[in-house]
Amino acid sequence: MPRPRRRFALCLALLSLSAAALPLPGQVRVASPDGRTQVTVAVAEGRLTYAVTRDGRPLVLPSRLGFRFADQPPIDSGWAIRDTARLSHDEWWTQPWGEVARVREQYNELAVTVEEGGQADGRTDGPSNRRTARRFTLRLRAFDDGIGFRYELPAQPGLESFAITEELTQFTFADNPRAWFIPSDRPRMDRSEMLYSAGPLSLLREVQTPLTLESTDRRTYLVLHEADLADYARMNLKGGCIECRTLQADLARMGDGIAVRGRTPFVTPWRTLQIADRVTDLAPSLLGLKLNPPSAIANTDWITPMKYIGIWWGMHINTMTWGSGPKHGATTANTRRYIDFAAANGFGGVLVEGWNTGWDGDWIKNRNAFSFTTPYPDYDLPGLAAYAKAKGVKLIVHNETSGGIRNYERQMDSAFALYQSLGLDAIKTGYVTDTVDGGHDHWSQYAVRHHRRVIEAAARHGIMVDVHEPLHDTGERRTWPNMMTREGARGQEYNAWSGDGGNLPEHETILFFTRLLAGPMDFTPGIFDLLIERGPGGPRRPEDARIRTTLAKQLALYVVLYSPMQMAADLPENYEGQPAFQFIRDVAVDWDTTRVLDGRIGDYVAVARRERGGQSWFLGAITDEEGRTLDLPLNFLTPGRRYVAEIYADGPKAHWLDNPLPVTITSRPVTSATRLRMVLAPGGGQAIRIRPAR
Ligand code: NOJ
Ligand code: CA
Repeated sequence: MPRPRRRFALCLALLSLSAAALPLPGQVRVASPDGRTQVTVAVAEGRLTYAVTRDGRPLVLPSRLGFRFADQPPIDSGWAIRDTARLSHDEWWTQPWGEVARVREQYNELAVTVEEGGQADGRTDGPSNRRTARRFTLRLRAFDDGIGFRYELPAQPGLESFAITEELTQFTFADNPRAWFIPSDRPRMDRSEMLYSAGPLSLLREVQTPLTLESTDRRTYLVLHEADLADYARMNLKGGCIECRTLQADLARMGDGIAVRGRTPFVTPWRTLQIADRVTDLAPSLLGLKLNPPSAIANTDWITPMKYIGIWWGMHINTMTWGSGPKHGATTANTRRYIDFAAANGFGGVLVEGWNTGWDGDWIKNRNAFSFTTPYPDYDLPGLAAYAKAKGVKLIVHNETSGGIRNYERQMDSAFALYQSLGLDAIKTGYVTDTVDGGHDHWSQYAVRHHRRVIEAAARHGIMVDVHEPLHDTGERRTWPNMMTREGARGQEYNAWSGDGGNLPEHETILFFTRLLAGPMDFTPGIFDLLIERGPGGPRRPEDARIRTTLAKQLALYVVLYSPMQMAADLPENYEGQPAFQFIRDVAVDWDTTRVLDGRIGDYVAVARRERGGQSWFLGAITDEEGRTLDLPLNFLTPGRRYVAEIYADGPKAHWLDNPLPVTITSRPVTSATRLRMVLAPGGGQAIRIRPAR
């Protein structure tokens, strides 16, 4: 290693900081391009730590780093800084699709290489003579909108292969912020499909990321998450101690209790902390994308965002079945009907679930029974693929695995080749089980590797992917833009059958500021039959599962909950003769620009997005169980241009509980000088298309 101490000293000298802010000996520091966020790496008592400040105020106090292994001494104490390296990066790039078209990736990087054998104060008397001394690099990137850091374990004699049992990374907060969370330690029949709770960070036990935090003075918003999860275990977080402010990485495990197996050279995912002054600055969240490698797919022209319908809701409300029998949904005749409806209304795709054999009996337990190439006899796969093609629509092929990864991987290449040969370029996968194959956690490294293999195999066959019961989104769509959307939260399906009656009116106002900060979600909005009157047994009683929103709010969700594949989830017959359906036909699915106009986590949010390559804007506003009036300036519109706003508002006396259906559709001229007064009913919303005046 070349003259580590001199290089270290040189780096210190180069830092253009005031004397008061200068790091102490044994510390190194990197600042965001705007200088507001600073990360300090230090060795104290031989332990490597990092700390974060914003405008000089501590956000994250010195927090622990390291690992425990099954087959090695821990990486914990006895370390010294050997070397540091810095670089600055500033680049604009264009997303093939997304919430925004252009992304500025600007950061300052600090790589700190540490080695075993240090003194308690982190200094050494020179390079260690111990042959087995291990070393690793902590790479930090400071952006204006947050920080990321990861561990890099270079190839070395003392650390060739390893088995991680625990990652010791901690986040010790200066404040006791309010957290919006879902637990990670429940028996996982519901995985990430839970309602959110809120409470002080000090009371958290085991929670999932992204974890959104609001400082007690509401001046800082933080989101803890990870980026570029490619060959590691998913990170959850656990409260480090009772009533304190420390969270620690909590890795999902494989069947034998090991979290991660690897060989050096090895890099971990990035641990990310998004930072914003206002809650409305949290979205669109681009930090995770900036920490993923650029696209591995050279030509992305075939990857096209779309709206779709599906043979789907019928199974959830029990008027159809996935399996064979008199109510089988995926019949040739029924699918033709859906294709006709999609073609007549400009939808790009028709999802068909229950088309393949394996659903009969208890399909959740029958993970090895699924065939991904054999249709049920009443489903003419090639004939329907050709029929759809002739109508300018595509079938979206459903692949439920029930967590049977080996069964899926055995068939994957031949199945994808079949779909490709039929001109079908999108699949929806599913993993409805808590553990996969031989007892590996749903989020274990075993599953992570599988999900990457699916994305890569799909890319080779020109196939876009929508995953249900997925891994959480860590920005892989930057590298693999065929990884379109995923579920990974409580979606609309719970409103069909959940024992607790369905999602609460506040649910989507929390999702926007939590789950959706990780990436797009296939929530499946657009149910119009809110009381499920067409379900078996007629309209639902208030306490039964049903949709707890107004109809206008269902429309607003198309703008609020971003997904490049956006479903119109209801039965086609429920859209017939409905004027409000026009909004679903019109709304875009790909965006140049996104602005969060107003919002409060769990209460309401209003979002405006400009369609990709066009001049129309779409605005969606949603509220929780409280009605409210928003007063929103349209100053995002181009000054001097005249527009028409087509407004889908909650009708008179609309209320999610007992009068959810009234929608008032009006249009009016607007300009960038207009202020819109938007009246939202309890559990309501408003959806607006703003198009240039002709
Ligand atoms: C759960 C998924 O979320 C849902 O969309 C799908 O219909 C069922 N699993 C069956 O695969
Ligand atoms: Ca699901």
